[in-house]
Amino acid sequence: MSDRDDDKAQARAAWLRDEINRHNYHYYVLDDPIIPDSEYDRLLHELQTLEAEHPELITPDSPTQRVGASPLEAFEEVRHRVPMLSLENAFSDEEVVDFDRRVRERLEVEQEIVYAAEPKMDGLAISLRYVKGLLVQAATRGDGTRGEDVTQNVRTIQSVPLRLLADDWPEILEVRGEIYMPRSGFERLNLQARKRGEKGFANPRNAAAGSLRQLDHRVTARRPLAMFCYGFGELSGVDLAPSYSESIHRLSRWGLRVSPELKTVNGVDGCFDYHRRLAGRRENLDYDIDGVVFKVDSLEQQRVLGFVSRAPRWAVARKFPAQEEMTRLLAIDVQVGRTGALTPVARLEPVTVAGVTVTNATLHNAEEIQRKDIRIGDWVIVRRAGDVIPQVVRVVPERRPPDARVFRMPDKCPVCGSEVIKDADGVVLRCSGGLYCPAQRREAIKHFASRRAMDIEGLGNKLVEQLVEQQLVSSPADIYQLDRETLAGLERMGEKSARNLIQALERSKSTTLARFLFALGIREVGEATAHALAAHFGSLEAIRQADVEALQAVSDVGPVVAEHLVTFFRQPHNLEVIEKLLAAGIHWPAVERPTAERQPLKGKSFVLTGTLSRPRSQIKEALQVLGAKVTGSVSSKTDYVVAGSDAGSKLEKAERLGLEILGEAGLDRLLGTAGER
Ligand code: IVH
Repeated sequence: MSDRDDDKAQARAAWLRDEINRHNYHYYVLDDPIIPDSEYDRLLHELQTLEAEHPELITPDSPTQRVGASPLEAFEEVRHRVPMLSLENAFSDEEVVDFDRRVRERLEVEQEIVYAAEPKMDGLAISLRYVKGLLVQAATRGDGTRGEDVTQNVRTIQSVPLRLLADDWPEILEVRGEIYMPRSGFERLNLQARKRGEKGFANPRNAAAGSLRQLDHRVTARRPLAMFCYGFGELSGVDLAPSYSESIHRLSRWGLRVSPELKTVNGVDGCFDYHRRLAGRRENLDYDIDGVVFKVDSLEQQRVLGFVSRAPRWAVARKFPAQEEMTRLLAIDVQVGRTGALTPVARLEPVTVAGVTVTNATLHNAEEIQRKDIRIGDWVIVRRAGDVIPQVVRVVPERRPPDARVFRMPDKCPVCGSEVIKDADGVVLRCSGGLYCPAQRREAIKHFASRRAMDIEGLGNKLVEQLVEQQLVSSPADIYQLDRETLAGLERMGEKSARNLIQALERSKSTTLARFLFALGIREVGEATAHALAAHFGSLEAIRQADVEALQAVSDVGPVVAEHLVTFFRQPHNLEVIEKLLAAGIHWPAVERPTAERQPLKGKSFVLTGTLSRPRSQIKEALQVLGAKVTGSVSSKTDYVVAGSDAGSKLEKAERLGLEILGEAGLDRLLGTAGER
């Protein structure tokens, strides 16, 4: 090959490296890809081919070199030139006030301090060392002075640049930050582990730690790890900027990932406000945080304040209440759901978790109990996050009492005594009693009356339980036969509530086909599927007569759902109930079937963010009916972002990208005009 060709290959390789690094940055750091995945793959493949033909062109910072060859025997020790410190904790607002007072006293200032506020990530601290823009070392915190060399592993993390972008970085740049596993990746990883019959990790933090401390970095490479930067170690030359927040923003220009939640706030009030807002969004973030960190923003003020023992005087971590607590598991009960599924439920010694008393936790199914080796009498770690049902995370084996008992699922339904059968998936156990089983009957009626189904105001769970127990109703059709006298005679019911309920029953008769279908409680037919079926077939009769094949023409319907539908409409009992309901006067307007012209939002993509006044599922459905697509993350391809109150990083990103942002009023206008056309 001629020198000219070699030069050309070299230039092409350099160009490809830069180009791929640039796209990595857009994809992993900014979360905003600018080319399709296929195009990215093409560039990477071209570089791989070129490097295979010209091995001399391979550079250590080439994007093909994230995963190298052999595993390590052990991690080498690394001495941190600038120690990695810890943070002082504050567990109440008062402690933040105290912290702020101490800061102002030491600085001898009266006016409000400017703080940089950011999430306290629940992961592992890491130090990255860049020399002349190249990543040369990554080390864990260890005891703060000595950590472990995990360079090979950290190189596999896509949001960590192997080479910094631009060229105005200091010759030596040590960056500190947190390595964590996004919740979505954690769920996926555990699902895969379970499929292989392995145990999985207890939480994202353990998963991140376990993944980073792999001697074989090829294992790490397959784990979804990410990093946010929040500090500095050794720096050659001067400070990057006069303030912490500006210095962090410089990092992002060099391709390092920083938290989109980083803000500057004024004084303690600003801190309180930030803490409150982030606490409110804690569940919606894709990563675990255990608090917020406030740092004096001015680097000059930080220098004056200095350190006490292992922590800086200029920072404090305001912790959130713990979401996990330990308690005793007293018993395991088995509940029977609407579709007969048996769910084991842990009865717990009452314990306060994040401010709420927890006495029950779902155990999901027998497999889960076995996998976690949960026994009656065990001490367990219980987790409650937001509105999610409390979960048993794991047992505390050191505390297992000698008389702890292994639990077995019953082979007869605990409510009606019918045979229990295993689903085709081999996991879910079901009572075969169908509507013979009082528990299934009760749950079916609760579902029928619920807000998103027939929306019968005043017919709550407690009342349904009473009605079924006293054998006043045994199917949804029976509730329309109830009269005022009967109702008024029930416990906790008076004349007035009886009258109101009769009126609510009347009102509920005027509904939509989609709601009615959903209310019937056919297995796997949720709101979205019910809508899709109604829109596709236009009438109940058409759905009833459709065979498995015809049903699968609906976008939302696969073979399993189609089978459930056909089975449901084959049961004489179900047809009888439907007949009675229609005879009682339930009706709906004719369904307008969307045609291409009736999908005015076809091809438009929407992202919903923040707190909205209606359930997201409802808005999503309304948009989907008009042909729109609703996705989870904002990118330049998003057409509209619907922002409710307290919208956070997605809104910011939408603003940054100059996307169209709608409030709820704007959304309603859009739905209104689009729906009319
Ligand atoms: S700053 C000199 N900022 O918390 C201060 N730490 O309790 C050094 N952490 O070891 C830490 N999020 O692993 C800082 N935004 C954040 C953080 C954070 C999480 C962790 C870090 C550190 C520990 C100290």
